[in-house]
Amino acid sequence: MIKRKALNIGDLRKMARRRLTKSLFDFCDKGSEDQISMRDNRVALDRIKLMPRILRDVSKRDPGIELFGKRHDLPLLIGPTGPAGFVWYRGETALARAAAAANIPFTLASTSNTDMEKIIANGGGTQWYQLYVWQDKEAAMVTVERALNAGFEALVLTVDSPVYNNREIDIRNGLVFPPRITPRTAIDSVLHPRWLIGTMGRYMLSEGRIPAFTNIHIPEEHKANATRYVSAATGSFLNRNDSLDWDFLKRLRDLWPRKLLVKGILHPGDARFAADCGVDGIFVSNHAGNVNDAAITGWDALPAIVEAVEKRMTIIADTGVRRGSDVLKGLALGADVIAIGRATLYGLAAAGQDGATRALEILEAEIRRTMAAIGLSDIASINRDYIRLPGDLPISGTAHLSRDSSRGPGGES
Ligand SMILES: Cc1cc2nc3c(=O)[nH]c(=O)nc-3n(C[C@H](O)[C@H](O)[C@H](O)COP(=O)(O)O)c2cc1C
Repeated sequence: MIKRKALNIGDLRKMARRRLTKSLFDFCDKGSEDQISMRDNRVALDRIKLMPRILRDVSKRDPGIELFGKRHDLPLLIGPTGPAGFVWYRGETALARAAAAANIPFTLASTSNTDMEKIIANGGGTQWYQLYVWQDKEAAMVTVERALNAGFEALVLTVDSPVYNNREIDIRNGLVFPPRITPRTAIDSVLHPRWLIGTMGRYMLSEGRIPAFTNIHIPEEHKANATRYVSAATGSFLNRNDSLDWDFLKRLRDLWPRKLLVKGILHPGDARFAADCGVDGIFVSNHAGNVNDAAITGWDALPAIVEAVEKRMTIIADTGVRRGSDVLKGLALGADVIAIGRATLYGLAAAGQDGATRALEILEAEIRRTMAAIGLSDIASINRDYIRLPGDLPISGTAHLSRDSSRGPGGES
């Protein structure tokens, strides 16, 4: 059914829009302030052009990669998205299962609603935990300890939002997390009965309450002022911590023995510092255009970061990926793996685990088709020769090509 209805990620987005309340859909779909960063991410990807190579045997194509010593079937991972548990009943588990079935990693967001231990047990596969640090750094360390005991294979520290994002759209829509019932949100909910009954209704029936943030340690003394997150968070424990520094990262490195990743790096100098701190990988990302509307895109930042890192860490890139060809462009720019947020979130909101799986199926089919179209059998061998950027010099002869890509019919250079 969903196979016929959703031919691409845009179709899943439309289905998600029909099922979710307006305020929840906008929270998932829109960026901060004037949506410039959102637009720039697409512009950055669209202006990268692929350079097809022809007459190569591409009958066997392998889109799999190795990441932190493990084999994954696609060059993708599901990044953390806070509202997964709000768009679908126990949505985080559904996303984790979809990722496990596709054999790619899943990242659980700090602001998730099902106990992390249950998601590890019921989701399976490769799971990472994403950490936001709120007002109390020591409380964050308690959460880190819990994530370690739960068995997450990697910890992802998100560092690009030291203060809460200016999401004017959410303020206008009257959205807060956890949700509050007001006349406006009540009308919005009633107009979307599939979400109201299928998601909120199921939580009320099974747990007797709307979803709460169960994976953030909130000390007793803060409980009274930890009721609000999003827009009106002033004075709340759930305000992001604006005093984090490199010393905090070093402390985390000492505490966390498994893979440690930093999410939200855009400057090559910061990428180098992260490598010096012993970090295993970074997300080159402007956070879905959700944070700093004037920030450079991850795609524009990527080449300088790849150069600065000199293969000392794994590089993950994201934001704006809606097609398999986008994934290949990011890899050709030098990323080791591409993270997706909205693509699977739309799928989840549209049809739960089946919808998230459909998003991954669509991307896989597009990746495989594009690999054939550009003459690529093994995704791990993609390189800069497979793309052209607007600033690139016109092609003349083969002088600019690597030895591999200038191979002739008999394999000769
Ligand atoms: C609705 C939404 C919620 C998100 N929540 C988080 C979060 O809690 N923590 C985080 O580090 N990133 C969060 N992100 C960012 C994603 O992890 C990822 O960087 C981004 O979604 C990639 O862009 P894309 O959605 O265009 O694929 C969120 C993104 C969206 C769209």
